[in-house]
This record gives sequence, structure tokens and C-alpha cells, in this order.
Amino acid sequence: MAQIFTTPSSMRQWARQQHGQKRRVGLVPTMGALHLGHMALVREAQRHAERVVVSIFVNPLQFGPQEDLARYPQTPEDDLKLLDEFGVDAVFMPSVEEMYPLGPSLTRVSLERLASVLCGKSRPGHFQGVATVVAKLFHIVEPDTALFGQKDWQQLVIIRRLVADLNFPVEIIGVPTVREANGLAISSRNRYLSPADTSRAASLYRALRGALAAYQSGTRGREEIRRQVADSLSLSGIEAEYVEVVDPRTLEPSPEMLSGQTLVAVAARVGKARLIDNILLGQD
Ligand code: PAF
Repeated sequence: MAQIFTTPSSMRQWARQQHGQKRRVGLVPTMGALHLGHMALVREAQRHAERVVVSIFVNPLQFGPQEDLARYPQTPEDDLKLLDEFGVDAVFMPSVEEMYPLGPSLTRVSLERLASVLCGKSRPGHFQGVATVVAKLFHIVEPDTALFGQKDWQQLVIIRRLVADLNFPVEIIGVPTVREANGLAISSRNRYLSPADTSRAASLYRALRGALAAYQSGTRGREEIRRQVADSLSLSGIEAEYVEVVDPRTLEPSPEMLSGQTLVAVAARVGKARLIDNILLGQD
């Protein structure tokens, strides 16, 4: 059975005991409503650390006023069952009051341009909220390694930069996206999709695979790739919030003629869900 901690001090004490016994601690930060994507992070964490902590905390700081904080899925009993099945050692489930005892944090971690491109354009303050809570989790758990999904590519880039800029002694590992059989990236927000939306949502990855196929058959024009993805989505009745072709490390727009590794990232609203996905071109 995983040990459950609800206060930062009890969590830190346990993590320090593990370190005292020379055990590496891996952290998988989550907002709960766990699914197989999270479990892939857990499995990877278990390969890199002797003890694995999963945090479950729906962080109000990263939700905008019009966003889904109030209806964000919360399934703590199912989550704990799944974590036990996967042999997780500890779960950190603090309340909002435990995490922000003085009210909303006045100290915020902001990442300037990295946080204002792609999803940052339509979600002002979101990545500041993510970076702030992740910095707090790193101080509380003091993990040797922390794992994040590549589906949230921008988040991963931001956390790598946070760790570098603020000298956190934490190794960040990005874990490939886990997909449904139809290609849809697994996400807690997929619960908002009706069955019809679910099959429509699969066209996000189909459009991205189309970009990869075009790249592999020699297309190098950034705009051509971008347009192809946007057109493919609109043929499936999906209007993209954005389709961007960027450098995967800096998130700067790629050169007009693509060379080296390139990330194609999309965000789109399908039914009641805002979905994101991405694909890397030029990996090989
Ligand atoms: O990716 C998420 O679930 C959240 O953004 C994270 C990293 C747990 C921070 O709240």
C-alpha cells in the first residue's frame, strides 16, 4: 500500500528518510483523474528511482477564470487503487490550504516568452501557475528525478528551463505520449468527450501523422506543413486554436525551410474539451 501524505512537512520528512537510506526518489506530479498516460510516467519513474512519489493536486493557480477548475475530474479512490496496483510508494495529496496556507501565492515563477507562446497565448498565467506549483513540489519532495509527459511539450520545455535557471538538482525526464487505439492522446480531459467527439478528436493525431508523412517524403516548407495540418483538421470539422511549427527546445518558430528537429504542435476545441497534441519531425 502506498503511504499517503497530506502535509508538506510529512511528505518532506518521508522523502528525506529515503535519501538518508541512499534511495533515489522519483516524483510524478499529477492533478489526479489518473489514466494510462500517468502510469507510463510511473513505470518510467520506477526505472530511474528506488522510491516513487505521485502527487495529486488540482492546482488552482494554473486555471484561468473561464477555465474548468470547478469541474476538473477528481477520482481519488480510483486513483489510489491504480497507484497501489502499480506499486507506487507514496502519494502526496495536499489540500489547497496546505499548499497555499497564506492564500494565493504572491511569489510566482514566470518564464517570460516561453510561457506566452503556443498555449500561453490563450491561457495567460497558466504556465506561471504550473511553474510555481512544480517549484513548490520540488522543494517539498526534493526528488532526484521528475517525470512529465511529452503530450504537454510546452510544459516540459518550461520545466526544464525552470530547473536550469533556478538550479534545482532534479533530473527531468520526458515520457512519450500514450495513445488510444485510434491515435487520440490519452488525457484526463478526454472524459469531457462524447463518443462522437472521441472519434473526431482522433483527427488531431491523424493530421500530425500527415505532416510527418509529408516531411518524410521531402516537404520542407514550414508554411506548407502548417497549412496541411490546419486543412486536414478543418476537413474533420475541427477549427484549430493554433497549428505551430517550432524549434522543440526553444519553441521559437522554425525557419521557413525546415532543417533539424522540428515540433508541430496543435490545440483545438472538440466538443467540451480543449485538446493538445504534437509530433516531432526530423528525429532520424
Ligand atoms: O501536467 C499536469 O498535470 C500539471 O500541469 C502539473 C505538472 C501536475 C502541475 O500542476
